[in-house]
Amino acid sequence: MEEEKIPQSIAIIMDGNGRYAKKNNLPIAIGHKNGCDNLEVILEEVVRLHIKYFTVYAFSTENWKRSKEEVNNLMSLFHIYMPRILKKALNNNVKIHFIGDIESLDEELKNMCYEMINQTKNMTGTIFSIAFNYGSRNEIIRAIKKIKIEDINNLDEEKFSTYLDTNGIKDPDLLIRTSGECRLSNFLLWQISYSEIYITNVFWPEFSIDELHKALSQYSMRERRYGTRV
Ligand code: FPP
Repeated sequence: MEEEKIPQSIAIIMDGNGRYAKKNNLPIAIGHKNGCDNLEVILEEVVRLHIKYFTVYAFSTENWKRSKEEVNNLMSLFHIYMPRILKKALNNNVKIHFIGDIESLDEELKNMCYEMINQTKNMTGTIFSIAFNYGSRNEIIRAIKKIKIEDINNLDEEKFSTYLDTNGIKDPDLLIRTSGECRLSNFLLWQISYSEIYITNVFWPEFSIDELHKALSQYSMRERRYGTRV
């Protein structure tokens, strides 16, 4: 693939852990666990490809409405996998960033997130953003509340972006959604205004390195026009 056609910023909606489990007659907990394992594999490939910004949708503000059992299972997986991801980040020069309302998480989870941010703050490679307790509308409302009344009249798109959790993160060039659903599910609504969207029927735990390359190859053939006629 030509160097200049590799996106600098990609985001993934990692969907389909449940359907993958159902298809393989596995408990849903195993679907989520295999999804976590797969995230480690894809993160390594993203780093290898020198993609500068990588953002994943790990847990949405709406995911709390799932059954207590499933939410507890996901939280246990975060407790297990966040330290593993931290280790991988430290070994691969990855800087970890969180988007989402991490302030409202319980103390233990919140501290874990801050620990990951602190320990990787001097890393200079891929910036890995984990959307955790994230909802795009929630992010926009939190952003608006940060703006001083006297600054409203001078607000423009660029300035507004700095109030979002993604401040400093390049808007995704490519948004990937696994598992076939054609919706955005309250993910990065502001930031994906001009992103190329790639939807695959493959379930997240089965989204292999080859599947990532298929998405990148499709992206390399897209002509981005940003509303103009070029
Ligand atoms: C959607 O599948 C997936 C989730 C709600 C969780 C995604 C999270 C991970 C893969 C792990 C992230 C881990 C870390 C450590 C950052 P689904 O259950 O909605 O699938 P379904 O639509 O087929 O039921």
